[in-house]
This record gives sequence, C-alpha cells and structure tokens, in this order.
Amino acid sequence: MASVGLSEVQFGVDYNQDTEQHIRRQQSMKRSLKMKFSFRTLLNMTSDQLYTLPLMVLYLTDGCNSKCVTCDIWRNPRRNMPMPLIHNLVSQTRDLQTRWVLLSGGEAMQHPQWSEIALLFREAGVRVLLLTNGLLVRKQAQQVIDSVDELIVSLDGGNAATYDAIRGVDGFDLILEGIQAVRAGGVPVTTRTTVQRANYQEIPQIIEAGLAADVTTMSFLAVDVANPFAFGQRFDHATTPVIHDSALLPEQLDELATIIDTLENRYAALFATGRIAESPQKLRRILVEYFRALHGESNFVAPRCNAPHFSTVVEVDGTLRPCYFLPAYGRLQPGGDPLAKEMNSTAAADLRRAYRTGQRAECQHCVCPLYKGARQLLGL
Ligand SMILES: C[S@@+](CC[C@H](N)C(=O)[O-])C[C@H]1O[C@@H](n2cnc3c(N)ncnc32)[C@H](O)[C@@H]1O
Ligand code: SF4
Ligand code: SF4
Repeated sequence: MASVGLSEVQFGVDYNQDTEQHIRRQQSMKRSLKMKFSFRTLLNMTSDQLYTLPLMVLYLTDGCNSKCVTCDIWRNPRRNMPMPLIHNLVSQTRDLQTRWVLLSGGEAMQHPQWSEIALLFREAGVRVLLLTNGLLVRKQAQQVIDSVDELIVSLDGGNAATYDAIRGVDGFDLILEGIQAVRAGGVPVTTRTTVQRANYQEIPQIIEAGLAADVTTMSFLAVDVANPFAFGQRFDHATTPVIHDSALLPEQLDELATIIDTLENRYAALFATGRIAESPQKLRRILVEYFRALHGESNFVAPRCNAPHFSTVVEVDGTLRPCYFLPAYGRLQPGGDPLAKEMNSTAAADLRRAYRTGQRAECQHCVCPLYKGARQLLGL
C-alpha cells in the first residue's frame, strides 16, 4: 500500500485503491484544492479588498551591516521584529492563504532568530524567500540551505573596488563565496543589481561573476532617487525625483544603451532561458528610458503593477504598507486587530484604490513594480 500523507488523511482518500489510481486522484484533489484557494485570490482583483495574502514581505530588522550609498537604512539604530509578532503572523498564514514570505529589512540575516523564523513559516506550509546583502551567507550557509527556499543576494559591483564603493564594505569575494556554498546545497540564488552611475559599465562583469558563482538568475533594476518611504530617511519631503549622485548622467545614456545591445548579442542564451530575468527590451525601458525621464528628456511611463493586491509589507514594529514605496496604512499592535482586518481597513483600501486608479505619484517612477496576471495568481 502507498504511504499515506497528511493531505490524504485530511481529504479522505480511499487507501485500498491501486497505487496509480490513488496518485491520480490525489493529484486531482490537490489541483482542485489549489484552484479553490487561488480563486479566492482572484477575488482580490475585483475590488480594493483583500481576500487572501499570497505574499507577505517582512522587514525582520531595520538596521544593517552595510553602508550603501543608495540607501540610508544602515543609519538606523537596529530593531528586531519581536517573536510574538512573528508567531502572530505565522498563525494567520493559513487563513490568509499565504504562499510566500519574503524576509527582508534592513538586513534580515542580522535578526538573531532569522533561520528559526524561516522554519516557522516553512512548517506552516509557506515558502521562504530571503533577500540579503549576502555578508553573512558564507558564515551561515548551512542555515540558509536548511531553512530557505530561494535566496536573493544584492550584487552591486563587478569587482571588489566598485562593490566596496557602493556598499561601503569589503564584501565582494565574501558574498560570491557564500552564493557558491548555498548553490552547492541546491538552493536557487538570484542576484539583484541596482544599476547606478558607479556600476552601469560593469553589467557584463556582474553577469560573469554571477555565472562563475553558479547563480540561478540575475536581475537588474534602476536606482531609486526619490522615494521617501523606501531605503531609509534619505529625503525630508521629496515628492519628485532628484538627480542624486547615483543616477546616470544624460551623457552616459547612449553608452548604457550600447552596453545593453552588446549584452543582447553576447548573452542571447541567458536571456532566452530567463537566467537573465529581464529581456533586453525591458532593460532598455527600466534603465535607459527611466534615466532619460529622470533628466526630463521624456516622460515617465507608469509601470504595470498590482503588488498591493496580493502582498503587503510588515515593518519591524508592525507598521503596514501596501508595498515598499507607498506610505503606511496601519500598524499591527500587540493584542490588536489581526492582519486580515488591518489590511482591509479604510486607509488600506483607499491606498489600494489610489494606486490602482493612477493617483499615486510614487508609481510613476517606481523602480520595482510587480505585476501578476490571473494565470500567475492561480499558480501562486
Ligand atoms: C533595502 S535592501 C534590503 C535587503 C538587503 N539589505 C539587501 O541589501 O539586499 C532591498 C534591495 O534594495 C536595493 N536598493 C538599495 N538602495 C536602492 C535604491 N536607492 N534604489 C533601488 N534599489 C535599492 C538593495 O540593493 C536591495 O537589493
Ligand atoms: S540596501 Fe540593504 S545592505 Fe544596503 S544599507 Fe540598505 S538595507 Fe543595508
Ligand atoms: S508601482 Fe511601485 S509604488 Fe506603485 S504600487 Fe507598485 S510597487 Fe508600489
């Protein structure tokens, strides 16, 4: 007789049937169960209420061990997300049908219990993504292998000197060695490069470094130079983009376009397989066109995004945001309303309506939108 899993016990399979029929029925039940779950998620798209929360983004800490020039989070005194708040969130994942949790910050791996937290979510059936600067990955490679489903590591330079200049620490070799160790343990690793003035010429070297470390996927986005809610207290009251030192200059944009043309030829196979996550066309749009708009040479084109309709950000103290770049709509308090209620408060629904109807300036120049169509949401 085939072994009996928990799902079979719960959903009443007849254990005496033959193995093949048994497996088919089991698969079909799992499919219909998943569809049932996913259809509730599709309801999210019909209004500004959330019926499920497929993705939770948690800022486990709001301090950091890097000193990036593009982000002021490292200037914060570090706070760690308290364990009672974590337990509270884990306990709600079933009702919220949460499929993924993204552990971020600040530097998530500086939370002294980050891997225990990852395992708590896993035990609740939630897959764990860890977004990190990578400085602790080599040292804690086994914990990553044991508790994380996918690792995302920021890689902002193609050599040690550039990495150091941007991230403020000597970490280039260290993080690549960490990536290799985790890849050897079978964990998928994505590198994430924030393209800026100091590194745009090194995109090919960044790709080569990623390949040498056996990364699964490489992803690129433009540096944000305006948002007052993400990346620490960089600006007092900025509402429009400023030409920060990290932005490319107008005279550098033709060169960036040429670099992307070269990538398109040299790495055609990597683009075709998705190992470089963005297509050449997308890179031109999110990098070259974005920087041109920043310099007033063209208009920003608001990206397609529905992240606030399937995810929310929970900051270290329980503050809730629809996404990285929009303001807070509430806060989880000890003994207060659960996330399911807070995420459907009037303020939350108003913010979702505002971004959905194009009323939020932050979306116009957002460097990190996320869009999932119905088919992708069903697959979540
Ligand atoms: C705020 S960090 C938190 C996670 C972790 N500390 C890290 O660096 O990967 C999240 C991501 O934002 C990127 N980032 C930092 N400053 C940025 C900026 N000004 N514009 C766009 N992305 C930025 C980081 O490189 C990282 O990939
Ligand atoms: S980008 Fe990440 S590593 Fe750099 S200061 Fe911000 S939180 Fe720290
Ligand atoms: S486009 Fe950016 S700012 Fe707007 S909702 Fe999406 S992630 Fe948030």
